[in-house]
Amino acid sequence: MNISGNTFLISGGGSGLGAACVRRLVANGANAVIADVNRTAGESLAAELGAPARFALTDVTDEISVRDAVTLAERTFGGLHGSIQCAGIAVAEKVHGKEGPNALTTFAKTIQINLVGTYNVIRYASAAMMRGVPTNSGERGVIVSTASVAAFDGQIGQAAYAASKGAIVSMTLPLAREFARHGIRVLAVAPGLFDTPLLAALPEPARQSLAQQVPFPPRLGRPDEFAALVCHCIENEMLNGEVIRLDGALRMAAK
Ligand SMILES: NC(=O)c1ccc[n+]([C@@H]2O[C@H](COP(=O)([O-])OP(=O)(O)OC[C@H]3O[C@@H](n4cnc5c(N)ncnc54)[C@H](O)[C@@H]3O)[C@@H](O)[C@H]2O)c1
Repeated sequence: MNISGNTFLISGGGSGLGAACVRRLVANGANAVIADVNRTAGESLAAELGAPARFALTDVTDEISVRDAVTLAERTFGGLHGSIQCAGIAVAEKVHGKEGPNALTTFAKTIQINLVGTYNVIRYASAAMMRGVPTNSGERGVIVSTASVAAFDGQIGQAAYAASKGAIVSMTLPLAREFARHGIRVLAVAPGLFDTPLLAALPEPARQSLAQQVPFPPRLGRPDEFAALVCHCIENEMLNGEVIRLDGALRMAAK
């Protein structure tokens, strides 16, 4: 799928990995709909990028909200050719606290935003892609979700986060199989440790220590390195039904 001249919806596009995708896609000639709950971040990025970028205030867990963001993409730019699911939260909580089992709230919220939200965006975005005109090779769209290395080596306290990302990994192939007859490819990227506001919440020594755990290069990933892989996923028609780790050979320890 060409990037230039086509339209992409990026959930969580207001910050971090999603914002890097928005910037790289627009720099390569695409239109981008930034679908994020953070109005300030989304509006400011859209204003900075000008006409090819639009902000849609979106909660990925809300059906109407996601439907409206997809409609905005179709009405403004005449169609949708790809969706990148980056909206997510990372909450660490062990199963048991000092008072016994922790409340179900954190687990349920993490699954709701990371997994149900991803599925919800895919649902509406794929419907819009199916309405599109196929390329000469029959391609109508590309869907790239954001998993995490926690899907494979989740740490203590990451039961909810790892479960949400593991499910994103698991649904990639069945979705690719289901959408194949529409010419829509489905992929996921599983990042290791990337330097975004999500990790900025950690104290600097903790960030440094995490960075040193990466075999090579021994540093945090740059958001644009994630965006570069997403762009390759969009452009390489043979990539489908696959989950790609982007982690500098990192394998997370138990804690
Ligand atoms: N940064 C990393 O090291 C890393 C590693 C592995 C996976 N990831 C995953 O990458 C994705 C992006 O993370 P990031 O590091 O860029 O974090 P980030 O906090 O910088 O960006 C996440 C964005 O998602 C938005 N968001 C949160 N809940 C939402 C909702 N309900 N509806 C719409 N938007 C919502 C936030 O407003 C924010 O703009 C997440 O799914 C995260 O789990 C990040």
